[in-house]
Amino acid sequence: MEQEIRVPISSDKNIADARQKGRSAALAVGFSLGGTALEQEIRVPISSDKDIVDARQKGRSVALAVGFSAGAATLIATAISELARNIVSYAKSGEIIIQALHGSPQGGIQVIARDQGPGIHDIKQALRDGFSTSGSLGLGLPGVKRLMDEFQIDSRENRGTTVMVKKWKQ
Ligand SMILES: Nc1ncnc2c1ncn2[C@@H]1O[C@H](COP(=O)(O)OP(=O)(O)OP(=O)(O)O)[C@@H](O)[C@H]1O
Ligand SMILES: [Mg+2]
Repeated sequence: MEQEIRVPISSDKNIADARQKGRSAALAVGFSLGGTALEQEIRVPISSDKDIVDARQKGRSVALAVGFSAGAATLIATAISELARNIVSYAKSGEIIIQALHGSPQGGIQVIARDQGPGIHDIKQALRDGFSTSGSLGLGLPGVKRLMDEFQIDSRENRGTTVMVKKWKQ
């Protein structure tokens, strides 16, 4: 972050690039993202498809601000979508909490998906590729586990489900 970022300008694409790099640098030093400082957690209430898109986008922005590559940020955004979609599908509502992580050794991102829905009857089974109680592909949770570095799930029947995931840079 101590270095300056140079963006040669000769086209519209460069303008977009400069804009994005400026935004990422601003977020990285703690300027606000839609009113929320990067140091703070970002909470996205989840109860509709629109909220899923919102959580996905916010996660992507934080991932970029933390310094993940565009490709890695997209994978993190995909993991967030899957967790948010499960909330809408199985619990109707809940929240996604996104937090930039600093240190150890060079930062990362934490995502918590929480709901007070019906809970998961058999967590081991739910983490298996192809297991679904809704006739879907059953790849969401195992996919998220593969995409992220740390994965914790806590679920109680009739109490709800909390999934906590982290990804570290490299
Ligand atoms: N938040 C949740 N609350 C209750 N049950 C859940 C929750 N998330 C997942 N599950 C249960 O775990 C199963 C596996 O979830 P997973 O996301 O892997 O697959 P899916 O949602 O069925 O299919 P896909 O995500 O591939 O569309 C679900 O079918 C559902 O029974
Ligand atoms: Mg799913």
